Amino acid sequence: MNISLQFKEGTGALATVRAACIAVGVFEDGILSREAEALDGAGALKAAVAARDISGKPGSSLLLRGVPGIKAERVLLVGLGKDAAPAPAVFATAVRTALRAFRQASGAEGVLALPLDRVAERDSFWAIRQAALAAHEVAYRRDRLKSEPAAQPEGIASLVLWHAPSTGASAALAEACATGKGAMLARELGDLPPNVCTPTYLAGRACALADEYGFGVEILGRTALAELKMNAYLAVADGSDAAPAFVVLRHRGGRPDQAPVVLVGKGLTFDSGGISIKPGAAMDEMKYDMAGAASVLGVFRAIGEMELGVNVIGIVAACENMPSGRSVRPGDIVTSMSGLTIEVLNTDAEGRLVLCDALTYAERFEPAAVVDIATLTGACVVALGHHNSGLFTRGDAAHERLAAQLLTASDEAADPAWRLPLQEPYLEQLKSEFADLANIGSPGGGASVAAAFLEKFTRKYTWAHLDVAGTAWRSGSDKGATGRPVPLLTRWLRNLENNV
Ligand code: BES
Ligand code: MN
Ligand code: ZN
Repeated sequence: MNISLQFKEGTGALATVRAACIAVGVFEDGILSREAEALDGAGALKAAVAARDISGKPGSSLLLRGVPGIKAERVLLVGLGKDAAPAPAVFATAVRTALRAFRQASGAEGVLALPLDRVAERDSFWAIRQAALAAHEVAYRRDRLKSEPAAQPEGIASLVLWHAPSTGASAALAEACATGKGAMLARELGDLPPNVCTPTYLAGRACALADEYGFGVEILGRTALAELKMNAYLAVADGSDAAPAFVVLRHRGGRPDQAPVVLVGKGLTFDSGGISIKPGAAMDEMKYDMAGAASVLGVFRAIGEMELGVNVIGIVAACENMPSGRSVRPGDIVTSMSGLTIEVLNTDAEGRLVLCDALTYAERFEPAAVVDIATLTGACVVALGHHNSGLFTRGDAAHERLAAQLLTASDEAADPAWRLPLQEPYLEQLKSEFADLANIGSPGGGASVAAAFLEKFTRKYTWAHLDVAGTAWRSGSDKGATGRPVPLLTRWLRNLENNV
């Protein structure tokens, strides 16, 4: 969808805009927003509000045709709640309500004339980014593999954000469109079934991205992984007939001497649990155990779109966790690439086995920072639900700085994350009688225990871990991948670009 900024000065300007639909806000006390006032020369909107045809509550809406005195075909009133400066969440709801209505309507142009410059505690650039990102989300379709995709109304062909064009506003819009494309790629990959979205398929999509945006790309298969002594990774991969694929993408946006940022994504295209097999209920959802990898590819699409001026390396560690005669067994001891030996006590704690070798591999880039993204633990979902991604870092100054950067980006991108503890006692839970460490520990604090496992393999650089088990996927009737944490990571990289 083409999204543009437009704002004509002077009262009544909105009334002269030719569009299929203009969305404007109305408050709970029946007061029209400034933009709605501008459309209401003949008092039709006030009359509708006075008749209580719309409550003004967040999520409420009312479509009116043939409003006298204006050029647009329709006006959509959307609820903005009680406050003259709507809270960010209220604004987000109003935007989505309007965009969904635009999807139902048909016509050339939809105008979003909501109070972009009056959201509480946010600037209008934030509002522009949110609106543009939401437009990508609303346009996303999940029914592409149905033999007869649901007949969908034509929808609005292009979207106008009613905001004065300026350098800052255009930059915010461009960033949001890049982020939206990236997040929708992550969503698409997360939603694809595991018989389609195999490790080889992910590698193919990475190559296509490399072609499109000029990234460097390298794919390592079984033999190369064995030569690198990535035996923890291979212990998981070898149980499956699907070949593993270890993808390295390079974006050279910064100075040649600038140390790169490395993103490492867990890419389990299906996690059955292996010999420690999972219960059957909702096992299908383990197709999204590659959401971390999908977010790395999504971020690469976003930074390719915006030609980011930072050096970034993306690693996708893809394989499948299956039970077979070649599967790793509970009790097996493997020697990881780092040389540390690991006693595999539960084959369902496979993500850390794959990631530990990928994180050791990352050392070769002498990175400025490494962030891994993984649907790592059910415990993280218990702790944080589906709202926040779990963020883990060490506690020294450099890591505190990294954590602060990521939390700021998370806030700015409306892609929430929450810090969880990473401390020595969690590592002690992983003591093994027979190897350097075990892959599962004594019960309690599972998300932190998993993070402590990874921490052992990341001592040579500054590192953060994002557990996205709860945030990368929505369960229930509206189930599907979310595209998170592409907005958080893209915003972080954008901020890095602006601060160096
Ligand atoms: N992929 C799962 C984690 C997961 C669970 C993601 C639910 C999304 C939703 C991971 O590989 C796993 O199985 N973790 C185990 C670890 C346990 C065996 C220590 C878990 O969380 O149960
Ligand atoms: Mn597992
Ligand atoms: Zn897993």
